[in-house]
Amino acid sequence: MIEADLVVHNAAEVVTLAGASPRLGAALADPGVVPGGAVASSGDRIVFAGPERDLERLVRLRPGGTRLDACGGTVLPGFVDPHTHLPFAGWREGEFVARLRGETYESIAGRGGGIRATVAATRGADRGEIARLVAARLDRMLLHGTTTVEAKSGYGLTFEDEIKQLEALRDAAADHPVTVVPTFLGAHVVPAERRDDREGYVREVAERMIPEIAGRGLARGCDVFVDAGAFRPDEAETILRSAAAAGLAIRLHADQRAAGRGAQLAARLGASSADHLEHVDEEGIAALAGAGTVAVLLPGAAHFLRDRNDPPARRMIDAGVALALATDFNPGTCPTEAMPPILSLACLRYALHPAEAIAAATVNAAHALGLGADRGSLEPGKRADFQVADVPNHLHLAYRTGVNHCRAVVAGGRLVVEDGRLTPAASGG
Ligand code: NIG
Ligand code: FE
Repeated sequence: MIEADLVVHNAAEVVTLAGASPRLGAALADPGVVPGGAVASSGDRIVFAGPERDLERLVRLRPGGTRLDACGGTVLPGFVDPHTHLPFAGWREGEFVARLRGETYESIAGRGGGIRATVAATRGADRGEIARLVAARLDRMLLHGTTTVEAKSGYGLTFEDEIKQLEALRDAAADHPVTVVPTFLGAHVVPAERRDDREGYVREVAERMIPEIAGRGLARGCDVFVDAGAFRPDEAETILRSAAAAGLAIRLHADQRAAGRGAQLAARLGASSADHLEHVDEEGIAALAGAGTVAVLLPGAAHFLRDRNDPPARRMIDAGVALALATDFNPGTCPTEAMPPILSLACLRYALHPAEAIAAATVNAAHALGLGADRGSLEPGKRADFQVADVPNHLHLAYRTGVNHCRAVVAGGRLVVEDGRLTPAASGG
């Protein structure tokens, strides 16, 4: 018998997404559903995912273990959100209104708003304040089924303020059930006070910030925003080569507001992911497929900016690019922590099938973070990160949008959300 200390049974469907590699092409649409399935874990590992009749035969729940009734709901992996800007202070609801009145993201940035407004607010907050904000946001993510999240700095833009953001992330993540994968984004924009010294700023990021941050283990990846209002491809290359030499995974904000050969650059540098890609061209798509760089699409950001340009998602799938989905959670272009509305947007805007959106938000997103062997699917040996949604099948997750269907979440084998609320175990109890 397999020994378990947690069992979830009585599910209408278990969406396993089982398989070792990212889901490419037609495989993206195969969710690996087990009807009437069950899942069991021991410690922080899954020990069983399969039909309930096999559970009764093969698995023994240890005395004192947890038996969770899925009540005819759908069990699926915890969402992996592979692109967020989590540690910031202040919101920008005034810009939301300004954009509704016709101002553009670029014109707002030009008058000192946008990213630079959040930089000012974040510089003004201390590490403890930012850590508290991050912890509250992680709670909200968990309540919507997210168990792993990538989180970028990039609102400090000085040596001290970037480190402060990354330390706040580390503080907040230390005893939180959501796993945080930190990314250094010192090259988000050139800070206002360095406008006449961009070369010096690029050098400082590459030669001072990256070695310190990588050396202290404060980040696992490095990202650069390549855009007319941010950094040029040659500047990004200098920074990302330094990051790769320091052992950091490479990511890129690429081809978001205009075509800029960002995808080609990401592929050439062996990036783990290229993100946004609203304006990627055919050559960029072929380059991503060839390099195995994951395309992280962020439909929430374009939607929020009322940008009608969508990335050619179907073209990318057909070309063999691994597709992932993320919130892009940030105060300017997507102020939501929740993944389910992002799945709906990916279906409605890119015509993804709901099963494709789920795979892109779990197993492929885990691969974007280099965690594909450990999480993102429900199979023995993987980390016990899963959720129970109060829906009769997986199609409802994208279909019935705008409300939270997540009833229970297990993270690292611990029941941290029950009946839609955080349990004492969620705060380390
Ligand atoms: O991914 N594109 C650049 N960075 C963010 C926006 C950050 C902000 O507006 O504060 C994004 O959309
Ligand atoms: Fe972003």
